[in-house]
Amino acid sequence: MADETCETCLSGTNLTKIYAFGKSRTVAVDNINFCFNAGQVISIVGESGSGKTTLAKMLLGLTNVTSGQIYFRGKPLDISTSKKRKEYWKSIQAIFQDPYSSYNIFTKIDDVLLDCIHLRGGRKVPKEEKIAMMEEACRFVNLKFAELTNKYPFELSGGQMQRLMIARVFLLKPKILLADEPTSMIDACSRASILEMLLKLRDEINMTLIFITHDIGLAYFISDEVYIMEHGKIVESGSADEVILNPKEAYTKRLINDVPKIYEPWDLSTVDYHL
Ligand SMILES: Nc1ncnc2c1ncn2[C@@H]1O[C@H](COP(=O)(O)OP(=O)(O)OP(=O)(O)O)[C@@H](O)[C@H]1O
Ligand SMILES: [Mg+2]
Repeated sequence: MADETCETCLSGTNLTKIYAFGKSRTVAVDNINFCFNAGQVISIVGESGSGKTTLAKMLLGLTNVTSGQIYFRGKPLDISTSKKRKEYWKSIQAIFQDPYSSYNIFTKIDDVLLDCIHLRGGRKVPKEEKIAMMEEACRFVNLKFAELTNKYPFELSGGQMQRLMIARVFLLKPKILLADEPTSMIDACSRASILEMLLKLRDEINMTLIFITHDIGLAYFISDEVYIMEHGKIVESGSADEVILNPKEAYTKRLINDVPKIYEPWDLSTVDYHL
């Protein structure tokens, strides 16, 4: 059983992932240590190929760990059976970069949402109540449930699909949401509203939000804690203010320099995220 009193929701010690095929070997995540506290917004920032998605996949149990240990609420994560994995996935959910590949194309939107209610143990809830729950989840993300019934996710725009993903999370109420560049494939306008909804959802269900991004400016804007990844290593971490207002590593400074709008003076009114 998980320790309900533990403030650390996810942590890792000496976590390493090596992809090996024949003679080729990629150290995607290289001996990292981290400690994510419950209820916080934590950003993982790094350039393409720095190992962010690989870390996310290990945390979700979607790829095996080469060495090191993940702890969930202070206890070694055990997802050795499909039953344990399914139980863990009630606590952790994810939103990925590509909304088009996040859905089963043969599942209608009503069923996508209904599955979430069932996963939360609501199979025996009366039909009208289930509909009210789905309507509420859709309202939360500015979608109209009545207009979605009998449609398939691929009939929605990319931004609407990401909002539907957030509606799923609203129904699933996980302890942790891992969002891997959830706005990088959608237009700038939808991007701001998706971010706004994610932060609102985090307040609504009091979850920990692990946000993966290239964008250190955005990380500063939304995070309590920031982890900077370079070539599979965590090169710097700490509060968003510590790391971004007072960076110690050359790599962090370079990432900041790439965001001219927030680089000196640190005036958030110059950040164009429309939140
Ligand atoms: N399934 C895989 N098989 C082999 N190598 C992989 C696999 N997935 C990722 N890699 C390699 O691991 C390294 C880290 O990749 P990863 O996708 O974790 O980076 P990332 O920080 O998420 O990048 P991006 O910002 O582009 O999404 C890269 O060198 C990548 O080529
Ligand atoms: Mg990635």
